[in-house]
Amino acid sequence: MLEQHRLGTDGPAVTRLGFGSMGLRGPRTWGVRTVDEARAESVLNSVLDAGINFIDTATVYGIAEERIGRYLSSRRSEFRIATKCGRTAVQHADHLEIQPAWSRDSILQNIESSLLRLQTDFIDLLQFHGGDYQQLRQAGLIDLLHDKKSEGVIGQVGVSTQLPAARELIESGAFDVVQLPFSCLAPEHSQLLGLASARGMGTIVRGGIAQGGPQAEIQREKLNAVWSRAKLDEVLPAGMRPAEFILRYTLSQKHVNTTIVGTANLAHLSENVAAAKRGGLPSELEREITHRVAEVLQEDRD
Ligand SMILES: NC(=O)c1ccc[n+]([C@@H]2O[C@H](COP(=O)([O-])OP(=O)(O)OC[C@H]3O[C@@H](n4cnc5c(N)ncnc54)[C@H](OP(=O)(O)O)[C@@H]3O)[C@@H](O)[C@H]2O)c1
Repeated sequence: MLEQHRLGTDGPAVTRLGFGSMGLRGPRTWGVRTVDEARAESVLNSVLDAGINFIDTATVYGIAEERIGRYLSSRRSEFRIATKCGRTAVQHADHLEIQPAWSRDSILQNIESSLLRLQTDFIDLLQFHGGDYQQLRQAGLIDLLHDKKSEGVIGQVGVSTQLPAARELIESGAFDVVQLPFSCLAPEHSQLLGLASARGMGTIVRGGIAQGGPQAEIQREKLNAVWSRAKLDEVLPAGMRPAEFILRYTLSQKHVNTTIVGTANLAHLSENVAAAKRGGLPSELEREITHRVAEVLQEDRD
């Protein structure tokens, strides 16, 4: 069984390993790979077969919402769906252009289109896709989402954000849930996760496997540089892949309710599920990693 946490004090129980569907966005969007229909269908069904019950998506992830609706609506009772609003996508011949759209009409349109594409009548969590607290409040958009919650269209009101906007959004008390980026290679939001959790908010981490780490197919130079400068190879347990090490570090953080790991590779999905079942890293190792990475980040600030 995968471990579950409540998504905030009053939230539903979700598996600490969740699934991020951005990689299933399909052709003519952005990024370096395209996942075909057969693969999308098998990945999404395998996610639920593995016992994961929390899926994150967004109106602007190409055809990801549509695929979740197409392949999983018959299994709707098995998972919680988190989507996002406040951005629109303009389709060009070969790519999508994503623009912020902070108006009531556009948010209402986002909700309608998400319900339609996901083939559902209920969105468990609706998150603002970025934005700044004063802007969202003054435009009446926070009240709008709370009205939709009262009407029973959405279950929780959240925001997917990062510094510098994140602190005020968390401290505002306006949200049930916050989504932040975090991993041992990019721990800048660690304190804010603790703050949100102390306030009873649900916490979602994106990037919790740091895109697979130094052995990943798609290499991320900035994250890899932290890995090598902190000499994490020296503390990587024998036989453990970096992806497992990074994911289990994220799961060691008690303030993290769920981390929405993305993959379009069934072998990686199985590995991630097995890693999550092994749980967080031993606390001594977790402290050593935290210390090594903090030293690297301190050097950068000096
Ligand atoms: N602003 C926002 O709201 C925002 C921004 C970004 C992301 N998100 C959400 O967060 C989710 C996750 O974000 P992310 O994709 O940037 O971060 P991530 O989950 O850390 O990285 C996903 C990448 O990791 C690779 N990976 C996963 N498991 C692996 C394994 N065992 N071994 C090697 N590589 C592995 C995947 O490649 P393979 O397919 O090859 O496994 C994929 O390229 C997204 O899907 C989306 O739902 C939200």
